[in-house]
Amino acid sequence: MSRVVVTGRVPEAAIEKLRTEHEVDAWQGPESIGREELLRRVAGADAVVSLLTERIDSELLDAAGPQLRVVANVAVGYDNIDVPACTERGIVATNTPGVLTDATADIAFGLILLATRRLGEGERLIRSGRPWKWGMFFLLGTSLSGKTLGIVGMGGIGQATARRAKAFGMDIVYQSRSELDPRIAEELGARRVDLDELLTVSDVVSLHCPYGPATHHLIGAGQLAAMKDSAYLINTARGPIVDEAALASALREAQIAGAGLDVFENEPRVHPGLLELENVVLVPHLGSATVETRTAMAMLAADNTLAVLSDERPPAPVN
Ligand code: DGY
Repeated sequence: MSRVVVTGRVPEAAIEKLRTEHEVDAWQGPESIGREELLRRVAGADAVVSLLTERIDSELLDAAGPQLRVVANVAVGYDNIDVPACTERGIVATNTPGVLTDATADIAFGLILLATRRLGEGERLIRSGRPWKWGMFFLLGTSLSGKTLGIVGMGGIGQATARRAKAFGMDIVYQSRSELDPRIAEELGARRVDLDELLTVSDVVSLHCPYGPATHHLIGAGQLAAMKDSAYLINTARGPIVDEAALASALREAQIAGAGLDVFENEPRVHPGLLELENVVLVPHLGSATVETRTAMAMLAADNTLAVLSDERPPAPVN
């Protein structure tokens, strides 16, 4: 029997699954586990099931000890894990791809609608108690049909967002490290372009690439200036892909029309310049936040953990 440390609250079904074979120490506090407590608890663990709010770095891996075999992130993004440090120590790192694709694409498309149709502004107006009435020119937004969606990062979530956009009559361009399977590209009517072209031709730019050194501030002042002044930026990937200060300034100066953000550069803090603006919709990292999706993510993390502890290949290794 191995010792599995779970660093935050996850759906009970996943804990039960792990408990059928191993001793499980799962953090149950209402707040995130503090760093000191985390370092103390991982000592002697064979497996760590981690949430994206926990930094899994050399310090933590050393605190766990040489018996640690697997770090199973309950997220598709794994920028919180120092993967090379895991690899150096022979530790398998895993993530949860696939199971949150639709939920995240739903939120991306939700943000597209909220931003382009000014639904956030309308909601805030009614709640403010300020007077309003229907008018021919009242809170006019932008139609999506016939417009171009530019997708940065055409993995599963990018493709699922493209599928939704196609149903709304949008044209799709994308920028990605690799070319789409020609059948999928044809089904979506999607054309591969470079980032510069994508920024200049798109009416909505939606980010779906992983975060890492290569994508840090991929969208900064220069890229925002290249976008149409009628365009919108949507981010459901990772906050630091966008230079938030530059985005606040572009929105304030009406260099672009609006934005919809589910993720932030210094979560949970949001750049104060964004909080004062009407033309940005802000939601608190809800991309995968459905009961079904979070359960599926936790179960996949449990499967990854159980596989490694049984000397089998896990379903979703990242190293
Ligand atoms: C992920 O899985 O990376 C998401 O950001 C969680 O919502």
